[in-house]
Amino acid sequence: MSEPLPYRVAVVTGATSGIGRATVVKLCEMGLTVHAVGRDDASLQELSELCGAIPVRADVRDTAAIVQQLSGVDVDILVNNAGILSTRAAFHEIEPSEIDAMIDINLKAPMHLTRAFLPGMVERKRGHLVYLGSSGGRAPFPSMGAYGPSKAGLSLFCDNLRCDLLGTSVRVSEIVPGRVQTDLYRTAIAEQQAQALLYDGYRPIQPNHIAAIIANVIELPIFVDVARIEVFPTDQATGGGSMVKFQE
Ligand SMILES: NC(=O)c1ccc[n+]([C@@H]2O[C@H](COP(=O)([O-])OP(=O)(O)OC[C@H]3O[C@@H](n4cnc5c(N)ncnc54)[C@H](OP(=O)(O)O)[C@@H]3O)[C@@H](O)[C@H]2O)c1
Repeated sequence: MSEPLPYRVAVVTGATSGIGRATVVKLCEMGLTVHAVGRDDASLQELSELCGAIPVRADVRDTAAIVQQLSGVDVDILVNNAGILSTRAAFHEIEPSEIDAMIDINLKAPMHLTRAFLPGMVERKRGHLVYLGSSGGRAPFPSMGAYGPSKAGLSLFCDNLRCDLLGTSVRVSEIVPGRVQTDLYRTAIAEQQAQALLYDGYRPIQPNHIAAIIANVIELPIFVDVARIEVFPTDQATGGGSMVKFQE
């Protein structure tokens, strides 16, 4: 028989789509009170009706707005999931503003949210920080020159946190997926071709599989911390050398 959960309240960012939405539903099923952070009112409302999640309408870059809406709430679990992959193109072809967008949303926002909620967790000696990393943060991929470093930075941030949090009982877990079938590529690949290019004919991981892994990681005894877990489709592998012939 599993131990009763020591946690009561979770906050999940990027709750309106994909992995975040599936995680909100799963954590609600586990009996947690879940605050769902997102920008789209209609999706938040629909999620609230589906599973009882409490909507927090905010851009993830606006830490103050999130903190203000969660004032007085003792946050036990923070799932930093919101992320973007704005364009899939070579680094010399992307808009310079996209560099800022990916660093701001994928790296700085989770760091600021962590900074905001961590003192309460440390004081209570109760907390679990979960981050959605990416295989793109563990190895180089073409056309991910800004996304990859944003996720690599997040990964090292997790390791740094674990050093600072020794003795506090606050856990830090980085979930590192390969290809998951979501809307992540909606702006990265032109004219809604993502479905055909990335998913049709493949067997991609589904958001509910990642949500189940997050739930498992949370449910483990408090003295067990899954620091990092990489999850690939069975049909996907990274690595290998690429070389091209130079042409004048
Ligand atoms: N799908 C994959 O293959 C894959 C692989 C590895 C890692 N990941 C990571 O998994 C996480 C979840 O992505 P997903 O695949 O589930 O993609 P998704 O379906 O596109 O979901 C991303 C979520 O993040 C939200 N978001 C983006 N920018 C935001 C902002 N500024 N403020 C508030 N919310 C914002 C989106 O809301 P809006 O609709 O309002 O933009 C959406 O709810 C990301 O961190 C991603 O990098 C995904």
